[in-house]
Amino acid sequence: MKVLIVGSGGRESCLVWKVKQSPLVDEIYIAPGNAGTALLGRNLDIKADDLQSLLGFAKTEKVDLTVVGPEIPLVAGIVDLFEQEGLKVFGPRKDLARLEGSKVFAKELMKKYGVPTADFKVFSKASEAKDYIRKKEAPLVVKADGLAAGKGVVVCKTSDEAFAAVDLIMVEKQFGSSGEKIVIEDCLEGQEASILVFSDGETIVPLVSSQDHKRVFDSDQGPNTGGMGAYSPAPIVNKDVFDKIITEVFKPLIFGLKKEQKIFKGILYAGLMIKDNQMNVLEFNVRFGDPETQAVLPKLKTDLVEVILAIVGGRLSTVNLEWDERFCVCVVLASGGYPGSYRKGKAISGLESLRNCRDIFIFHAGTKQDSQGNFLTDGGRVLNVVGLADTIEETQAKVYKAIENISFENMHYRKDIANKALKFLAR
Ligand SMILES: Nc1ncnc2c1ncn2[C@@H]1O[C@H](COP(=O)(O)OP(=O)(O)O)[C@@H](O)[C@H]1O
Ligand SMILES: [Mg+2]
Repeated sequence: MKVLIVGSGGRESCLVWKVKQSPLVDEIYIAPGNAGTALLGRNLDIKADDLQSLLGFAKTEKVDLTVVGPEIPLVAGIVDLFEQEGLKVFGPRKDLARLEGSKVFAKELMKKYGVPTADFKVFSKASEAKDYIRKKEAPLVVKADGLAAGKGVVVCKTSDEAFAAVDLIMVEKQFGSSGEKIVIEDCLEGQEASILVFSDGETIVPLVSSQDHKRVFDSDQGPNTGGMGAYSPAPIVNKDVFDKIITEVFKPLIFGLKKEQKIFKGILYAGLMIKDNQMNVLEFNVRFGDPETQAVLPKLKTDLVEVILAIVGGRLSTVNLEWDERFCVCVVLASGGYPGSYRKGKAISGLESLRNCRDIFIFHAGTKQDSQGNFLTDGGRVLNVVGLADTIEETQAKVYKAIENISFENMHYRKDIANKALKFLAR
C-alpha cells in the first residue's frame, strides 16, 4: 500500500521509520518531510497545512492511508475532507480535533465528564479577566484558547504577570483570533508526564508513558521550546497512577463523547501534572507528541500500520500492543540560539558513523541536503538521537556517547535528559 505522512519534524521522521517496517507498505510519501525522510521515502513539495494540495495528491496517486503528524491540518479538518472523498486517514475529525484546537472546549468537556483538571474560568473580555485576577491572586495560568504553536500559555507567579499576559493575548492580540477567549486556571504543582492512547471511539489502547523536557537548558532553565528531549517510560507514572489516568481521564472522556455520537478516532494525548499519586490534566493533544513519539515508538514491537488501519476501520479491540521493555531516551540537537533566532545551513558531520549503530536511531527534524549530498541544518530542532538499553543510566550513556560523533556549528543540547527519572526513583 501507499502511505502519505504529513509533516516535517522529528516526530514524522520517526513515523516514517516505523511505517517503513510494515510489510503492508510499498511506498511512503512525506509532505513536506526533511533530509532524513527523503532517505526512506519520497518527499513532496506540499506544506503540511495545504489541505487542498494534499487531497489532490492523495487522490491522483491513490494513496491508501494518510497519517497526519501536526495539529494544524487536523484542527483545520483534514480528516473530514479526506473522508468525504473516500480516503483513509488517521486522526479525529474537526469537531473533536477541537480538544486540542480550543482550550475552552477541552476544559468544558473535562468539567462535564468529571476529568480531574485545574479549576478555571473562561473570559472573552480583558477587563473581566483582570477583575478575576484581582480576586483570585497569583500564581495563575493564563491560556489563549486557540492554537499558538506552544506559546499561548503563560504561567504567572504574580498578578502583574497575569495582567500582562491578558494584555498580550487579548489586547495586543499576539496570537490573533486564538486569543479571542482565554482560560485562567489555578497553578498546579508537581511533575509533568504524557500519556497517549490509541482509540477508535469504542476501545482505548494506551501507549507507554513518557516525559518531555520543554525548557531549553539543563535543570529546566531558560525559555520553553518545542521539546528538547524525552524518555520512556516515566517512573512517576506508576501502575496506580497509570490505571487512574485510564479510568478517570480517558474512559469518561472518550466514552462520554461516544454517548453524544462523537467518535474519537486517532491518538489522544493527555499532558498531566502529577503529585503524590494525584493527577490533573493540563491539556489534550489529538496527535503524536514531538519529541515523545521518538522515545515511545522505538519501543513498540507491533506493526503501527496494522494498528492505524484497525482504528480507521473501527476494530481496535482486535489489536494487542507488544512493547520492548527497555528504556528509551531521545535527545534533541538544536541550532545555537533556538528557541530564539538562529542560523540555518550549517554543515552536519558524523551522521554516517552512526548508521549501523545497534539500538541507536537518528531521526532528522530541521535538516536538508545540498546538491552534493551534504546534510545541512534547516531549523531550530535539527536532529533527534534516540537509544534503547536496559537501564536508565546505560541508555543515557549510550545516547550521549553517540552524540559525541555528531557536530554542527553552534550545536546545543540538554545534558540531563532522563535525570528526572533517576531522581524520582532515588527519592
Ligand atoms: N494549571 C497549570 N499549572 C501549572 N503549570 C501549567 C498549568 N497549565 C499549563 N502549565 C505549564 O504550561 C505548559 C504549557 O501548557 P499546555 O496547557 O500544555 O499548553 P500548550 O502545550 O498548548 O502550550 C505546560 O507544559 C506546563 O508546564
Ligand atoms: Mg503542552
